[in-house]
Amino acid sequence: MSVPIKSGTGAAYARILGFGGYRPARVVTNEEIIQNIDSSDEWIQARSGIVTRRWANAEETVQAMSVAAAGKALANAGIQADQVGAVIVSTVSHLYQTPAIATVIADELGAKGAAAFDISAACAGFCYGVGLADGMVRTGSAEHVVVIGVERLSDLTDHHDRSTAFIFADGAGAAVVGPSDTPGIGPVVWGSDGSQARLITQQESWHQAFHTEGGAQWPHLRMEGNPVFRWAVWEMARVAQQALDAAGVSTDDLDAFIPHQANMRITDAMVKALKLPAHVRVARDIAQQGNTSAASIPLAIERMQESGELKSGETALIIGFGAGLAYAAQVIKLP
Ligand code: UT7
Repeated sequence: MSVPIKSGTGAAYARILGFGGYRPARVVTNEEIIQNIDSSDEWIQARSGIVTRRWANAEETVQAMSVAAAGKALANAGIQADQVGAVIVSTVSHLYQTPAIATVIADELGAKGAAAFDISAACAGFCYGVGLADGMVRTGSAEHVVVIGVERLSDLTDHHDRSTAFIFADGAGAAVVGPSDTPGIGPVVWGSDGSQARLITQQESWHQAFHTEGGAQWPHLRMEGNPVFRWAVWEMARVAQQALDAAGVSTDDLDAFIPHQANMRITDAMVKALKLPAHVRVARDIAQQGNTSAASIPLAIERMQESGELKSGETALIIGFGAGLAYAAQVIKLP
């Protein structure tokens, strides 16, 4: 039949209405980390900028941390759970293959019947989620979308591997995306380079892990830090500039730069490569929080909002990058 079909129509524009975060209670120092690896507090601070990180306890599950962060984001946005049409959870450390943890989180939040799914885009996951939510609000497939970045990377870290033991951490960050009369989320610039997938990867499949000669072996994350570092510094500054150009925003117009909290030296190098003016406030949550992958950007924004460093209506550039290698960046208006 040649009958025409209608396409969805939603809001003219979308924006982020509120952020929220959850930081596990237990603070882990570098002194504690180096009990398992040949390293030092000085080396870890100098090479990564990390002073402390947080690890979740048994009760601080992916679900519990997500519900806490999303609940805070909804409260900050002034949105009730029954107004939420979709829940997107970005995580690589929810240890069940199925069902998506997003369905259970939506239910616990009270977002009954909301569309709910997980995405696996590692450290780019929050920006991927915001990109998806922006499109969903503007095409009308959901009026309000909760985007959650959550990790319990301490479960997947080999605490005796000195190339990763000090870097990865746990936490959850969330944002509520909803309709807006003016543009609040710039075009997403995103992509991937699977030819470099081996640089950050679970070392073996679950199947291989269970059938290891000599007994089951936990499939930890492995990272070739230095090539990832160089890729992040050179390639990601270019992607960040593309996101600025796509939004029509110059570095002079920018109020804040919130990159994925991977390494303080990567942040410093990107600030330099982008020639960010001194007035641009830069997220440095990694010092206290470590690298929380998909959670790092919303957690860093929450900290800067709570300390008064960010104000409503200001313009921020966010960029996530990591395993895949996957990346995504966009300019946002702060709620
Ligand atoms: O979030 C997803 C994306 N992830 C990232 O963006 C992480 C990117 N990578 C990094 O942040 C950095 O590569 C690390 C912080 C992981 C490592 O820093 P680096 O400056 O790249 O160190 P490196 O691997 O090049 O190692 C430099 C030296 C080596 O010794 P030699 O060969 O120079 O004698 C390593 O053996 O440091 C040594 N080293 C350590 N020393 C003390 C490596 N790890 C450690 C350690 N403690 N934990």
